[in-house]
This record gives sequence, C-alpha cells and structure tokens, in this order.
Amino acid sequence: MPNAKNFVAIGKLSKEEILSLITAAAAAERQPNRQILAGHIVATLFYEPSTRTRLSFETAANRLGAKVIGFSDPKVSSTTKGETLNDTIQMVSNYADVIVMRHYLEGAALYAAEISPTPVINAGDGAHEHPTQTMLDLYSIHKTQGTLDDLDICLVGDLKYGRTVHSLIQAMRHFRPRFHFVAPQELAMPDEYKQQLDRWGIPYQEHHDLSPEVIGQCDILYMTRVQRERFQDLGEYEKVKDLYVLRAAMLQDARENMKILHPLPRVGEIAYDVDATPHAYYFKQAENGLYMREAIICSVLGKSLEE
Ligand code: NCD
Repeated sequence: MPNAKNFVAIGKLSKEEILSLITAAAAAERQPNRQILAGHIVATLFYEPSTRTRLSFETAANRLGAKVIGFSDPKVSSTTKGETLNDTIQMVSNYADVIVMRHYLEGAALYAAEISPTPVINAGDGAHEHPTQTMLDLYSIHKTQGTLDDLDICLVGDLKYGRTVHSLIQAMRHFRPRFHFVAPQELAMPDEYKQQLDRWGIPYQEHHDLSPEVIGQCDILYMTRVQRERFQDLGEYEKVKDLYVLRAAMLQDARENMKILHPLPRVGEIAYDVDATPHAYYFKQAENGLYMREAIICSVLGKSLEE
C-alpha cells in the first residue's frame, strides 16, 4: 500500500498541524526564495480551470528550486484518448516527487492518494473540498486578526457548491468560531455540514440578506462566487447569480478589524469600489497562497522551512 504523506482532506489536520503550517508559511514569506527542493519535480495535473491555485503552486515550486511538469487543461493530455485517472496517476508518480491535482469529481484526490506512491495534494475536488485554499485562508485570518480563536465569520454566496467554505468550516472547528451563513435557499449550506457544526457545538445563524447589520457583526466577511459549472440547469444559475453584490456603502457599520476575503475569481459579487477600502484583503489573500503552498509542498516532502 502506498504510504506517502498526502494533503487531501482538511478534516485530517490537527490543531497543532494547522498552527505549524501557519508558522512555516510565515517563514516562507520572510524568505520565499531558497533551494530547499533543488532536484525535485512537482507535477500539477489540472482537470478543471484554475489561475491562482495552479500558478501559486508552480511559483512556490520554482521559488524553492524544484522543477514543474504537468497540464493545465486535460484536453491536451491522454484523458481525451480515454486514459483513466488510475493509469495517469500510476504513471506520473513514476516521474514526479509530488502530485498537485484538481479534479471535477468529488473524491478524486483521495482516490489518487490511495493508489499513488508519491504524495498527492488536493487542489480542489468538485464541490467537495479545497484544503490548500483553506490553509491560505487561515493564514490570512491569522495575519489580519492576530488569532484564529473566537472570531465571528460570515460566509456569503454559494454555500452549497462552494468547496472553499466546506473546507473552511471544518478547519475552524478547532478555534471556537461563530458563523453567519448568507445564502438563498437554493444555495444554503448543506445539512451534512450543519450537522457537523451541531455535533461540534459551533453556533451558526442563517440569513437570506447581506445586510449592514450582519456585516457589522463579523470579523471576517468571506464572499464567494456562485459556481456556475456545478449547475445542471443554467436557468437556475441565472436566478441566483446576482443576488449578493457587496458595495463600499454597505460597510459603514463594519468593525474596524473586519477583513473581506474571497478565494477569487470574483464575477460581480464584490463591486470595484470595495477594493480601495481598508477592509479589502482578497488580493493579499491570494499572495498569501504562495507562502502557504511553499509550506504545504515542504510539509508533504518532509522538508523544513524554519530558518
Ligand atoms: C476557488 C475554487 O476553485 O474552488 N478558487 C480558487 O481556487 N482560488 C473558488 C471559485 O472558483 O469560485
């Protein structure tokens, strides 16, 4: 049986492992360019579109001295000839020291990790999980709030199909958060995640409106895009796609420390006038992804970023 150190599901990480990755990301940020991974090959296999996740993983690998192979579009791979995920993974694991994979099927990364002798990092599997995004979200929250403990976090938008929010609530269970969920009925947080929160004793309130009152009650306002690609019926997507648009005028009662996060891309849910407010943090958040992904690659390869 393969016995590599994988990074597939956020729920597998202990509080100590999360905090230690945050410390490692801070070390990467202080000194992002070093040759710790010289002689290593990182494969990036992207079966779904990506800008930030793939480019920040590839930049992380390059800045640490590794070389990168892979594809950003499965149409140029043997997938179009009918090759199975099993065969692709078996093969790539012979070439690379670590495999970073994004796939449209839920559970694809776990499956790959089960058959791959080299470590697999989940860069998003369908509407299920996006654990490396969560780690950069936690790093961003920690940097801006000085702690992960006892925060009020409001998640807005597509809470049904958004994999980033599914991973985030699981990671936050260690830190006594209070959640607000803002979504239309059709895109509400799925019951399985709400039941998990109930079991962990984590409070949440559900709202349909993104009101200044709700905004005024949070430390982190986490906006998300409606996930068009997950809808069977695009008519249903059209009905909900423009429900929430955050504008600067809605921030008047926001707490001073409140930061707006968004995994990006945004497609209209944050107006451009928000970018100039002191609450906007989403571009810095994306930059933080580079440091956290350096930390994650090093972690699965058993390398230390401590000075
Ligand atoms: C997110 C994703 O792919 O799930 N993007 C990202 O990785 N930065 C969110 C999204 O696509 O809406």
